[in-house]
Amino acid sequence: MRYRGREVGGEGRVQLIMESTLTARDRVGVQDFVLLENYTSEAAFIENLRRRFKENLIYTYIGSVLVSVNPYKHLEIYSKAHMERYRGVSFYEISPHIYAVSDNTYRALRTERKDQCILISGESGAGKTEASKKILQYYSTTCPISDNMSTLRDRLLQSTPVLEAFGNAKTLKNDNSSRFGKYMDVKFDFRGALIGGHILNYLLEKTRVVHQNHGERNFHIFYQLLEGAEPDLLTKLCLERNALKYQYLVKGCCSRVSSINDKNDWKTVRKALEITGFHEEEVEDLLNVIASVLHLGNLQFGEGEDGETEITTEPQHNYLSKLLGVDGADLKDALTHKKLTAKGEEMISPLNFEQAVAARDALAKAVYGRTFTWLVAKINQSLAFKDDMHNSSKGSSSVIGLLDIYGFEVFQHNSFEQFCINYCNEKLQQLFIELTLKSEQEDYESEGISWEPVKYFDNKIICDLVEEKHKGFISILDEECVRPGQPSDISFLEKLEDTLGGHAHFVTHKLSSGKTRKAVGREEFRLLHYAGEVNYTVSGFLDKNNDLLYRNLKEVICQSDSQILRQCFQREEVTDQKRPETAATQFKNSLAKLMDILMSKEPSYVRCIKPNDAKQPGRFDEALVRHQVKYLGLMENLRVRRAGFAYRRHYQAFLQRYKSLCPSTWPNWQGPLADGVATLVQHLGYTPEEYKLGRTKIFIRYPKTLFTTEDALEARRPSLALSLQTSWRGYRERSKYQRIRHAVIVIQSAWRGMKSRRRARRRRQAANIIRNFIRGFIYRHYERCPENQYFLDHQRFSFLMTLVRNLPKSVLDKSWPVPPPSLTEASEHLRRMRMQDMMRAYCRRIQPEWKKQMEQKVVASHIFNDQKENYPQSVPRLFVASRLNSEDLNLKVIQTLGSDKVKYGVPVTKYDRRGYKARPRQLLLTSSFAVLVAEAKLKQKIEYATLRGISVSSLSDGFLVLHVPSEDNKQKSDVVLQCDHVIEVVTKLATMADKINNVNVSQDSIRFVVSRGKEGIIDFTSGPVLKVSKGKKGHLLVTAPQLNPR
Ligand SMILES: Nc1ncnc2c1ncn2[C@@H]1O[C@H](COP(=O)(O)OP(=O)(O)O)[C@@H](O)[C@H]1O
Ligand SMILES: [Mg+2]
Repeated sequence: MRYRGREVGGEGRVQLIMESTLTARDRVGVQDFVLLENYTSEAAFIENLRRRFKENLIYTYIGSVLVSVNPYKHLEIYSKAHMERYRGVSFYEISPHIYAVSDNTYRALRTERKDQCILISGESGAGKTEASKKILQYYSTTCPISDNMSTLRDRLLQSTPVLEAFGNAKTLKNDNSSRFGKYMDVKFDFRGALIGGHILNYLLEKTRVVHQNHGERNFHIFYQLLEGAEPDLLTKLCLERNALKYQYLVKGCCSRVSSINDKNDWKTVRKALEITGFHEEEVEDLLNVIASVLHLGNLQFGEGEDGETEITTEPQHNYLSKLLGVDGADLKDALTHKKLTAKGEEMISPLNFEQAVAARDALAKAVYGRTFTWLVAKINQSLAFKDDMHNSSKGSSSVIGLLDIYGFEVFQHNSFEQFCINYCNEKLQQLFIELTLKSEQEDYESEGISWEPVKYFDNKIICDLVEEKHKGFISILDEECVRPGQPSDISFLEKLEDTLGGHAHFVTHKLSSGKTRKAVGREEFRLLHYAGEVNYTVSGFLDKNNDLLYRNLKEVICQSDSQILRQCFQREEVTDQKRPETAATQFKNSLAKLMDILMSKEPSYVRCIKPNDAKQPGRFDEALVRHQVKYLGLMENLRVRRAGFAYRRHYQAFLQRYKSLCPSTWPNWQGPLADGVATLVQHLGYTPEEYKLGRTKIFIRYPKTLFTTEDALEARRPSLALSLQTSWRGYRERSKYQRIRHAVIVIQSAWRGMKSRRRARRRRQAANIIRNFIRGFIYRHYERCPENQYFLDHQRFSFLMTLVRNLPKSVLDKSWPVPPPSLTEASEHLRRMRMQDMMRAYCRRIQPEWKKQMEQKVVASHIFNDQKENYPQSVPRLFVASRLNSEDLNLKVIQTLGSDKVKYGVPVTKYDRRGYKARPRQLLLTSSFAVLVAEAKLKQKIEYATLRGISVSSLSDGFLVLHVPSEDNKQKSDVVLQCDHVIEVVTKLATMADKINNVNVSQDSIRFVVSRGKEGIIDFTSGPVLKVSKGKKGHLLVTAPQLNPR
């Protein structure tokens, strides 16, 4: 909502406007009657109205009530720019306007969050309908609209031409007189956006369908249809473009009116029907119904041969059955007969001429009246808030109700309809009195505000006269309608006279005398309404109240092809035996409901005044206006207003709304409410004459005081919003944080719980394992049993795992993990297997030469292992095939040896048996003997077969002695040799000569045969270096070099 012009400063502005208004007062009068100096003078009041009217200022306030005088001409004050000017601007800032009331009501709706209503009253032709249209236009133009209701704006506006076409007519009072009552709820959501509308309609003046007073017309739609419809459509509806041809349209002798353009209006209505969501078929149906009403009017009856009543206009009858979509014969029967149920039996009796005409008219009225109600229902559907239909959003939406109901009217002849209309106006006046004059004054008294009561006429007495139970007018009418015997309008009049005679507001010819008696006809009664005296013709009251439509006619229409008629006439109604409520009672009840609706809302008033009866612009008929001012109670209204206070509020509500404007009351006032309000207004700087504190309410005299306060609130709002936002955000973040924190704690505890449970489980398992382990350890030497099972398994497993990691990689690697006692045997097996395995692998890898080498080494091992000191050193040195190359061998020697190939040769030192002279020789080995060679000479040949043995010392010398037999002289005896490769030589020789077991390793000395019977001895000692010398006893002394221990 925008608040324009506030920057100037509310008070200053108001001051300015009021002053300028005052200076112009002589010319344009005052814009609020409250400012009238002589406020008790009716003449001054009317003069003010007149002055303003002459200046085309048709609106004037009495406080917050808007008085509007019909200008009967178009004024340039309803443009969009004007609407903008009044938006968000307070009442008193700018000249009075219907838009100001609209806007004020809208703002009250938004700020106070209470349903509002605008009551527009005034007599027929005073401008009520125009005012309500202006208000609706204002809302649909200026208010935001709900997103899903974009068509609502147009629908709201276009609902009016549709309803006016079907529900308005030209009367003597008004060329566009509403012949139905209309209460419309305009719905807003909590943001103030338009979200829908809903219309309640009240008693349509159906009689007009069949009869019009002189100078009046039927409902507009008939003329519009005949004037505007395309020829095709007319043909289809079997109509002619001539209103004079239709009996229902000629009664008033006034089918054309200069102020009305039926042709254009027809276009508007067609367009409006489309916009308000009527489908093509529905419009077609609707027009069929309208056309059928016209044909009904032209249906004539005559007397048949046997005196029975019959339809004489066959074509009309045919059109009718076609347009109504009913069976022709059935319709004919129903129009000329009636069905009676007596003692449970159905009887058909023929109608006489008058009865047939009445039945026809009743049908026309019923069809038209119900179609009008259907039309309203249809419009309501199109205005309905979509969500309303699914899930009600009542809680958040609020409404502004617009009441535009038929105004008080007096004609030459007044009938049941006028009675209802005027009764309705009595009720509205009563409401106005209740809410403004009475309650306001009562309020001052009950609140203890000093007060001089203002006298006013309370029309409750007239309302009671009409509606009181048992004794009231309507009760008497209803009673007469159901009375057995021959009730008639006259008998009803008599009953009225009996019952109401003597009532100050009821007069008849019989009851009165003198002048009055002349003025009231014999078949009339007079009611003294708040707005004037009205003579009602009693004839027709009973029929109209009964609103009778014969059951057989209803039955026929129930079977119609027309969707509309089928919806309007339901089967249940025909079968229902209960007597329907009379028209007057229905109307009374619906008015009571309407009063409840209006009472539940905060009202604003627009009081419309008609300046003249001739519908002429610029004419101000003082007498007529004075009369209206009087009966509308405007003077009393002004007096109460002037003496009273413009605004009152319960302390609680006032404090609640404005408490933010005073530090002592914000955010909450602790203590009595009255004290709180007093503190607040003091802080706001109210002067004593500006306000009064009652028992429960504060009364503020001038609107501008409140206006200034509102301004202050408006200025305060942003900072309030800010602090609300801040604390809300704070709260939101805090609660978000708390939620997250809580969630974190839950997750943490769940996680910790799980972790702990897992750890506890693991610990338990570990403890079990350890326990098993210890028990197993204790029982480890027992047979496998449950106690040691785990331990043993573990032991086996860990041993096997250790083994896998530490398996010896070569045959020489003798390492092997120590097995647990229980696995000693298995370990041995495994070890052996591993060894075999390695050996197999090793063997598979071995080459033939190497095999030979190994065989030799095995032999060497066999002979020397642990026997000879330098054996270990010899082990890694490889044996060679021969220590002599072929070129080292003498050719002669080779020739001598002939076929005996030298398999091995080695240079040696031979020591003579006697004298131990050292001589270099070659020792050659063949396959069957060994020879010692010196140069080209074979010195000694030793057959392997004769070789007795071989001796070596245990030390690290290179001596070897070949023992050969000495019996034979020719043969030389044992040979003493020294060689660097003693292990290799001895191994090869022992192998070739097959003397492996004949090698003797001596400890200290070797004895050998020098010659037969004579022995030589070689003594071996250890020393630092090899030394060979001759000993004292002829022994050969050999000092073997000491080897460093490995
Ligand atoms: N504010 C207005 N401006 C111009 N003409 C108006 C205004 N109010 C009423 N009229 C004229 O008076 C006629 C009757 O007004 P209407 O609102 O139909 O009366 P009511 O509903 O009170 O019977 C309208 O048709 C229109 O010609
Ligand atoms: Mg009207």
